[in-house]
Amino acid sequence: MKNIVILISGRGSNMQAIVDAQIAGARIAAVIANRPDAAGLAWAAERGIATVGLDHKQFASREAFDERLASEIDAFAPDLVVLAGFMRILTPAFTARYEGRMLNIHPSLLPSFPGLHTHQRAIDMGCKVAGCTVHFVTAELDHGPIVAQGVVPVLDDDTEAALANRVLALEHQLYPQAVRQFVAGELQVNGSRVSGVAASQADASLM
Ligand code: GAR
Repeated sequence: MKNIVILISGRGSNMQAIVDAQIAGARIAAVIANRPDAAGLAWAAERGIATVGLDHKQFASREAFDERLASEIDAFAPDLVVLAGFMRILTPAFTARYEGRMLNIHPSLLPSFPGLHTHQRAIDMGCKVAGCTVHFVTAELDHGPIVAQGVVPVLDDDTEAALANRVLALEHQLYPQAVRQFVAGELQVNGSRVSGVAASQADASLM
């Protein structure tokens, strides 16, 4: 049985999708948030999952927070750490500690649009497609070997919220699938390339 620790900052809808997927061979050992009032914490606690709220504002430095966060995570002996809307820049020591066993989902087709406001930036650039990316986490923000990508169209009259909703629906399919593949030992990382999987998905109903 593989232990998974999921990190969130807010509503945690991706975390919920992963929990609800009931992945064979995996156990959600804990959900940890850097905001004690994160809505997703209450959702997880109601389902009997261990939760930790660790307020980053109580720490003097990013390093001090990440060190404490790592010790909270390690208490659950994770095989995999899943970042699901965890809105913190991570220190190199933290990313090195979980190298090869920490995944993130980002709401753009990386390497386009790392960082924030991905949907508005895609609309402003006149992109015809947008999407989401699951990748292994490295020291560089929103970089790292790409595991899976999902694609949706950008519609002529799209708003940021409409596009975000369309992408989010795909995130909820793609992320549990990628976690399932990690747990099954199907992801082989070779430099910046991840192979051994059917690793892309388009929202066929919208294309
Ligand atoms: C998701 O869209 C996720 O891709 C994004 O935050 C949202 C969290 O939603 N993550 C990032 O922007 C990380 N750079 P959720 O809390 O409902 O899963």
